Amino acid sequence: MTEFRSRRHVLVPWVEKFRPKSLKDVVSQDVLVASLHKFIEAGTLPHLLFYGPPGTGKTSVILALAHDLFGPEMFRQRVMELNASDERGIDAIREKVKRFAQQSISAKPEGYPFPCPPFKLIILDEADSLTTDAQNALRRVIEVHTRVTRFCLICNYVSKIIDPLASRCAKSRFFPLPKEISLERLKHICNTEGVKCGDEELIRLNELSKGDLRRAITLLHSAHRLYRDDITIDGIMDMAGIVPQEIIDELIGCVIEDHSYDHLTSILNTIKRKGYSAQQVLEQTIEEIIKNTSISDAQKAQIGFQTAQTEKALLDGANEEMQLKSLFSFILSLTFKG
Ligand SMILES: Nc1ncnc2c1ncn2[C@@H]1O[C@H](COP(=O)(O)OP(=O)(O)OP(=O)(O)O)[C@@H](O)[C@H]1O
Ligand SMILES: [Mg+2]
Repeated sequence: MTEFRSRRHVLVPWVEKFRPKSLKDVVSQDVLVASLHKFIEAGTLPHLLFYGPPGTGKTSVILALAHDLFGPEMFRQRVMELNASDERGIDAIREKVKRFAQQSISAKPEGYPFPCPPFKLIILDEADSLTTDAQNALRRVIEVHTRVTRFCLICNYVSKIIDPLASRCAKSRFFPLPKEISLERLKHICNTEGVKCGDEELIRLNELSKGDLRRAITLLHSAHRLYRDDITIDGIMDMAGIVPQEIIDELIGCVIEDHSYDHLTSILNTIKRKGYSAQQVLEQTIEEIIKNTSISDAQKAQIGFQTAQTEKALLDGANEEMQLKSLFSFILSLTFKG
């Protein structure tokens, strides 16, 4: 049994193991955390809408707030988590909310050291995956249950939330974590887990994650599992799926200097064979193109526009190979002066 427990302990992903248990463990997002502390002191809460990029603490903050408000004993009775992308439409959500709101709540136990205000909290994660009709129906659900519940809607894209729903909530934007702060967090994890990772390697790993702490912690955990105490920059780049700089340089040289369609096809074949994602190729090439002084500003503007279209097509599920070929053929013909 002990062995089973300790094995389970080892298997917990670090993103979960190091998820803040209380608001005081949350790093960055200072303004929001300060205002949530005020609500805890006052024992009240408005409906909330959290939005911002992945891995910046939205789910963690609301769960930490719920723990600070209700404590471990009352958490299950007072907090319900729904994932809008899992639930089968608004009817299922309405039904669950109704049932949860109707359950009576027991009084705060004597001497219980948490504020435990007299309402329940419903967390609706990934709310931006709800259709407009479902969001319209949700307005009414929120209104009907406001006396006994508070809602926290969470999403990545606030523009996908309809105005009447957003205006019922106090909106908070989450920002990508500043480099120094996420680096500190990674160092804390290394110290706690006894990971030996050089400063340079940790800095590179942190930079690759671009303010997404989930990505940084996951990368660190995977690198540690694979390489133990021998984590190298090459190993990190490989794990993160970063395209080697030689391939990016060859690709750009081919389209803006050599203008060789055959060569382009062969580089794209290499990229496909090695399994690099098209999104990653776009991200790295656009950075190089912006820096390149032999491409005019007007050309950069057109390439930027075309890259955005390609990215949208990729997000919509278009064929990666065709999209890359189309984009780089465009750049090749745009910069061809013959
Ligand atoms: N501000 C933060 N403070 C402490 N840990 C954080 C913070 N942001 C992210 N993390 C770490 O990253 C993990 C993922 O964070 P979380 O699930 O809160 O991200 P999210 O913003 O909800 O992302 P998504 O939009 O993808 O759902 C957490 O388990 C935690 O380990
Ligand atoms: Mg989340």
